[in-house]
Amino acid sequence: MTRSALITGITGQDGSYLAELLLSKDYQVHGVVRRSSRERMERLEKILPQITLHEGDLTDSGSILRILQKSDPVEVYNLAAQSFVPSSWTQPLLTGDVTGLGVTRMLEVLRQHNPNIRFFQASSSEIFGQATDESQSEQTAIRPRSPYGVAKAYGHFITINYRESYDLFAVSGILFNHESPRRGGEFVSRKISRAAALIKLGRQEKVFLGNLNAERDWGHASDYVKAMWLMLDQKTPKDYVVATGKKSTVRDFAKIAFDCVGLDWEKHVEIDSTLYRPAEVDALCGNASLIREELGWQPTITLEALIREMVESDLKDLRG
Ligand code: NAP
Ligand code: GDD
Repeated sequence: MTRSALITGITGQDGSYLAELLLSKDYQVHGVVRRSSRERMERLEKILPQITLHEGDLTDSGSILRILQKSDPVEVYNLAAQSFVPSSWTQPLLTGDVTGLGVTRMLEVLRQHNPNIRFFQASSSEIFGQATDESQSEQTAIRPRSPYGVAKAYGHFITINYRESYDLFAVSGILFNHESPRRGGEFVSRKISRAAALIKLGRQEKVFLGNLNAERDWGHASDYVKAMWLMLDQKTPKDYVVATGKKSTVRDFAKIAFDCVGLDWEKHVEIDSTLYRPAEVDALCGNASLIREELGWQPTITLEALIREMVESDLKDLRG
C-alpha cells in the first residue's frame, strides 16, 4: 500500500526538495500551504500534478487536525517556520508563535489523531548561538542568540519532551545552513549569487552586505532532505546534527561566487552596517560524526559546486 507523508513548509526551499525525494520513493505527498494573495508555487511547479496541497497554518491547530485526518500520513515533516533570522527581531512574537509554539501544536494534534505517526522537526544550528565548542555536536550547550534561535530551541526541546512523555517517534534534526538555487533571496548565499549574476550581466554594480567575517557551515539542501528521511526510517527515534563539518566566511562565499563569473568581489561588495545583527552568531561548524556513523549519511556536494550551481542558475534565470 502506498505510504502517505505530510510536509509543512512544502512551498519553501527544503519542502520542495523533500517532496521530490519522497515522490521518488513512492510516497503520496501532501503539503500544508498558507493562504496568500498570490500563488507561491514556483518551487513546486514541476511536481504540482503529483502532490496534494491543503490550506492550513501552523497558528491554527484546527486546520492542521483536519489536514491530518484527510491525508492520514505515516510520516510528518515539520519544515514550516518564520525562518529568516533578522525578521525574528522585527517580528519576535510571530516567530515565537510559528517557529516555537507551532511545533507543540503539530505534536498535540498528531498525538491525538494518531500517535503512531513519525514526526521530524527541522531544528537549527542557530540554537547553539555563541558556542564555545570549536565544532558543535548533539552534546553542545544550547545558547541561542536571536528570537529565531530561541524559538527553535523551544521547538527542539518540546519534540524531545513529547518523545519522552508520550513515547512518540519524534525526532529533531539539528540542521546547519543549507542552500540551493531555490534559496530565498534574502539569505546571504542567494543574495550573493544573484548579485554576482546581475553584475556580470551589467544590470547592477554593487551589492551591500553586513558582517563578512561571520562563518557558516554551508551544505546543499538536496543532501539535507535525505538526512530528514533517513532519520524517520530508523528503528529508534534519535536526534542528529546534520552538517558538512567545514566552515567558511561570508567573504569566502562572495569570493568564490564572483570568481565563478570572472569578477573581483572586492570591486563590487560594499558594507552596509545596518545589515549587522543586534546579536550575531559569529561561527557555526557542525560535527556530524553521529549521523555519518549510525545512519551512513554524508554530504555529497562541495561548497564550490554549490556556489557554482547557484550562480549559473541565477545567470540562466536572468538571461531567460
Ligand atoms: P523557507 O524556505 O523559509 O520555508 C519556510 C516554509 O514555512 C514556507 O513554505 C512557508 O510558507 C512556511 N510557513 C511559514 N509560516 C508558516 C505558517 N504560519 N504556517 C504554515 N506554513 C508556514 O525555509 P527552508 O530553508 O526551506 O527551511 C525549512 C525548515 O528548516 C525551517 O523550519 C527552517 O527554520 C529550518 N532550517 C533551515 C535551515 C537552512 O539553512 N535552510 C537550517 C536550519 C533549519 P510560505 O511559502 O507561504 O512563506
Ligand atoms: N541575510 C544576510 N544578508 N546575511 C548576511 C548579510 C546580508 O546582507 N551580510 C552578512 N550576512 C551574514 C549574517 O550576519 C550571518 O552571520 C550569515 O551571513 C548568514 O546569514 P543568513 O544567510 O541570513 O543565514 P543564517 O545563518 O542567519 O540563518 C540560516 O541558517 C540557520 C541555520 O544556522 C537560516 O536558514 C535559518 O533558518 C537557519 O536555521
